[in-house]
Amino acid sequence: MTLLEIDLVVYPDECDAFGHLNQASFLSLFERARWEMLRGGPGMDVFTRGGAWPALRKTVIDYRAAAFPGDVLRFQQVLTHYGRTSFTMRQTARRVRDDILIASAEFVFVCIDRDGRPIPVPQEFSEYMNARPDSPGNVRRITVHGVNLAVEERGKGPAVLFVHGYPLDRTIWREQIGALEGFRCIAVDLRGMGQSDSPDLGYSMSIYAADLAALLDVLGVDDVVLCGLSMGGYVAFEFLRQWHSRVRGLVLMDSRADADAPEVRRARDAAAATARERGAGAIADAMLPRMLAPATLSRRPDVAERVRALMARTPVAGIVGALAAMRDREESESLLPTLAGVPTLVMVGDADTLTPPDQARAMVAAIPGGRLAVIPGAGHLPPVEQPEATTASLREFLRSLG
Ligand code: MLT
Repeated sequence: MTLLEIDLVVYPDECDAFGHLNQASFLSLFERARWEMLRGGPGMDVFTRGGAWPALRKTVIDYRAAAFPGDVLRFQQVLTHYGRTSFTMRQTARRVRDDILIASAEFVFVCIDRDGRPIPVPQEFSEYMNARPDSPGNVRRITVHGVNLAVEERGKGPAVLFVHGYPLDRTIWREQIGALEGFRCIAVDLRGMGQSDSPDLGYSMSIYAADLAALLDVLGVDDVVLCGLSMGGYVAFEFLRQWHSRVRGLVLMDSRADADAPEVRRARDAAAATARERGAGAIADAMLPRMLAPATLSRRPDVAERVRALMARTPVAGIVGALAAMRDREESESLLPTLAGVPTLVMVGDADTLTPPDQARAMVAAIPGGRLAVIPGAGHLPPVEQPEATTASLREFLRSLG
């Protein structure tokens, strides 16, 4: 558990005649979780010390499953917007026993003084929540197709859209989007992962791709270089099928073009059952050894922990949805020869066992003018394992597009 996570027990007097946690009590548990979090951090008086009070202005709650007396709920809190006088906190409540998402909520606060006038959010609070003021480099929440996506943007110039793999999030691109000067780097959490909403249903490659197209519309971006890692590459293929003219260039990182073989489809279903029964932590434990190069695993515990933690916080609905979307995806090998007009870089870690270098070479051979970059010392996650070499290859490719 991190400091931003709080476990609370559901008591019988918080439940209705059917034994379900009632709505009023939900609200008070969300509130208690926020105060408990402050108690364990900068103190419950972090606002009043500076003469401020966080006045609640708006609440949106999505009730997903019933909770019952005795259930232990784990509340996670994330700051999704931080302005001068206002902030938005997203909270989720999951049942610890089965990691089921019980409810998610968004609370918008304005800090006010005793006369009700807006005053700045105490810096100590935002520092604790690990947020920075809203700026082009910070997380925005953009709603497309009824789903709230978390999006981070850095820099100015031709747009590059970074699409993460499974079960990951946009933070795998942290080092790249911070270092690729001269480009408008956009990193998004796909629906169901990271800080984006995770609906129970509605996952497929075409829905992920449609989300990206709608996101680009909202951002006013006509065409992009798409950079997809693994499942992000599958999404990029789907995007190409539907919006070919919007793709100025393509980076396929540790990805593959074939569809799932029958045994892989069965393994996807088994993994979905594991996620439902044992939660995201079990998926993270199973995936970690295959995600990273042996050298990363043995010599870089910080990297291993970062990757495990980000997989373990993926919502179960998003994991199950992504597994179904990958299982049912079309083959894209027939698309490769049609990429003549789309400059394409295929990148792969030299120690990737999930999508090995030989597979990358075969893709390059099928793409007219395709280029290859093999990143030494990386497994399935070059942007995290070898950030500098990955950024250097990306930079060289992006600059070559003119
Ligand atoms: C990914 O990293 O996105 C997955 O490993 C892709 C897959 O399982 O096919």
